Amino acid sequence: MAAVDFDLSPDHELIRRTVREFAEGEVAPVAEELDRTKSFPYEIVEKLGKLNLMGIPFPEEYGGGGGDTLAYALAVEELTRVDSSVAITLCAHTSLGTQPVYLFGSEEQKHEWLPRLCSGERLGAFGLTEPEAGSDAGNVRTRANLADGEWTINGSKQFITNAGTDISGIVCITAVTGGEGNGIDPTHPKEISNIIVPNGAPGYEQGEPYRKMGWNASDTRPLTFTDCRVHEENLLGPRGQGFKQFLHILDIGRIGVAAMGVGLAQGALDEALSYAKQRKAFGKSISKFQAIQSKLADMSTEIEAGRLLVYKAAREKDSGRNFTLTAAQAKLKTGRLAVRCAEEAVQIHGGYGFIEEYPVCRFYRDAKILTIGEGTDEVQQMVIARALGA
Ligand code: CAA
Repeated sequence: MAAVDFDLSPDHELIRRTVREFAEGEVAPVAEELDRTKSFPYEIVEKLGKLNLMGIPFPEEYGGGGGDTLAYALAVEELTRVDSSVAITLCAHTSLGTQPVYLFGSEEQKHEWLPRLCSGERLGAFGLTEPEAGSDAGNVRTRANLADGEWTINGSKQFITNAGTDISGIVCITAVTGGEGNGIDPTHPKEISNIIVPNGAPGYEQGEPYRKMGWNASDTRPLTFTDCRVHEENLLGPRGQGFKQFLHILDIGRIGVAAMGVGLAQGALDEALSYAKQRKAFGKSISKFQAIQSKLADMSTEIEAGRLLVYKAAREKDSGRNFTLTAAQAKLKTGRLAVRCAEEAVQIHGGYGFIEEYPVCRFYRDAKILTIGEGTDEVQQMVIARALGA
């Protein structure tokens, strides 16, 4: 009979330890300043690249780390435990920006882009969301027409991570390629395909960064394509498969974002426990009061439940099973968990929790997007209910 094994392998323990040491030694000391000055963490990304962490789940032949999804989730969890901006930079780059090239690219496309992406020399971005295509991601308006060996792209994308930095390399976008002018059935106007748009393509423009509630040191912008031209061979995978491909990418991305939820919640608990032990009121540490202990105990229990869901989703993916349901459950559970734990951690800090020098203040602002990005809670509920056959 197969056992349920809750222990991590020595290799997984090693990656957790390595990333924790890096996060505590290199990221935590600068996280507050990067957030305050809204500065993209170039030096940290470079170091992550040198540690082979910018391409963890991709094969070594393409310059990747040769790890699995669980290793990737552990790394994301440990980074988020100290800082969400760095974590989302790695997460969006790996599961959203690089994964489409790895999963759907030709050998030529993989060899052209993966080594540079996996080393962190270039960042990958994912261009799905549009002003009228958020949760209804299939309502893509961006169009790409093929003529004379080139795609001409017109449209816009929004809330895109990693596309506007000095080291941005490519954005993989969805575009409508069906309809009149493409030489295919005009009654099927919603043929959606994936296209790689490299930085510097004529007609591709990155807008100004958004002023956000959190994730301040990460790069998020709108993109516009005005008669943007890329080579015909930049099509990623078969024409017309773009929407399904991106839904699959989102399933993978949700494991990463769920790992962020666990990491943020754990970081909030760690900060709250440490503060509660040293803060005295009525003659003793506030950690000795039952009201505080109840909060800490609930946070710890919920974190463990969320963590197990994330690891289960990662395991399902790594063993080749369908993981759509578990990834959505993990994302739903841990987004809420992060918001709740950040709020409780601020509450335990009292007035200090409202002051930016305390990490929990940043955690509180960074948590909310985890119930929205890469599929809102309501979209996760849709996915889960569909899987239940409801
Ligand atoms: N994997 C692969 N294929 C899938 C799939 C999956 N998980 N789910 C559905 N499909 C297939 C279906 O079988 C269907 O195929 P057929 O047409 O052959 O039958 C096709 O894809 C369309 O499926 P649906 O009819 O179910 O699609 P829908 O329009 O009803 O949408 C949805 C489903 C789940 C709501 C989807 O639109 C969705 O996930 N929306 C949320 C989008 C989202 O997460 N956006 C965040 C973007 S990332 C971001 O913003 C983060 C960042 O940059 C940091």
